[in-house]
Amino acid sequence: MQKCYLRFKLIVVIVLVVRTEAFRREPSHQRGGRVLSPVPMARRRVLLYLKPFDVYPPRPLSGASSLTFPPPPPPPRAANPKILSYLDHRCRVHKDTINLCKSVLQRKPLDWISVQRNHLSNPIHDVDLVITVGGDGTLLRASHFLDSSIPILGVNSDPTCSDEVEELTEEFDARRSTGYLCAATARNFEQILDATLAGSRHYSELSRISVKLNGSQLPTYALNDILVSHPCPASVSRFSLRKRSNGETSCLINSRSSGLRVATATGSTAAMLSAGGFMMPISSRELQYMIREPISPTDADKPLLHGLVKQEQHMLVVWYNQEGAVYIDGSHVTYPIQHGDTLEISSDAPVLKVILPEYLLKQASL
Ligand SMILES: *[C@@H]1O[C@H](CO)[C@@H](O)[C@H](O)[C@H]1NC(C)=O
Repeated sequence: MQKCYLRFKLIVVIVLVVRTEAFRREPSHQRGGRVLSPVPMARRRVLLYLKPFDVYPPRPLSGASSLTFPPPPPPPRAANPKILSYLDHRCRVHKDTINLCKSVLQRKPLDWISVQRNHLSNPIHDVDLVITVGGDGTLLRASHFLDSSIPILGVNSDPTCSDEVEELTEEFDARRSTGYLCAATARNFEQILDATLAGSRHYSELSRISVKLNGSQLPTYALNDILVSHPCPASVSRFSLRKRSNGETSCLINSRSSGLRVATATGSTAAMLSAGGFMMPISSRELQYMIREPISPTDADKPLLHGLVKQEQHMLVVWYNQEGAVYIDGSHVTYPIQHGDTLEISSDAPVLKVILPEYLLKQASL
């Protein structure tokens, strides 16, 4: 209880710090009025949004660190020393990337602050650019606090090294952060930041998923995908589904399955692809849906188990289990649903402005 309260206090304090810092650093000619006034020389504001260190499994205590709070978790049992040194190295590379990004920002005519991703729980305002340092997961988490006004640039802080993966392939999976959506790494961060600030590197507008629960908008838009399912992965999900666009309604599918996944074009290369879906051009405004592991579908239903929701369509889902959940972009953001709830799923959501890596841009312009 007390721990909970402490954590809550910590979050409040940090959020307050973020806000007051943002104001304190604002040049006086911008204070109080419209934020993005076209004053020449206006200093731009950057939020550095960081993946924390505690996601790396702990290493054994090294002497003097026993006074840290919260106390470090116990070291993993029976860990292979190679795995420990790999994890240790990952943590160090991530830390080095953060330090590099901070030192680059320090040299630019910018006002910037940094926040660890677990300490931010409110929409992001009052900045001109968000830079995430981590992998795609960190960029996805930041996207949930952004509307369509602020662009985001991802820095993959710990990219996979193919030599290492090859060398260790018989021992363990040595892949590092996935940075499919991250335009930068430590190596080219300054160059991409400069190009972004100079306006020569443009952002792309990626579509997102909107979910309405019984007619009320859920406050988080999905950048990759949503999963609607029973919270227990071994339980059957029961729901019905149909597509609708102004006046036209498709036939009803009654599903008993492992749930429903709906992906954006961006997310079509993630879990949807693993599940047997297809890649969509990243600029597409359509959504792709798939019923997972359908139980004895009828022949009439079969072609409808996987398909597209067009931009002008939405999908109506009625949920028939006592328990259920909508998972947004993985497991961190969930909304519980219950028997009789109706979900309206569509791409009618604010786009996200993302500075994409070159290879995705090339793909998009093909
Ligand atoms: C949504 O509407 C259904 C049908 O009216 C109702 O059974 C259910 O309790 C509602 N759910 C919420 C969360 O209000």
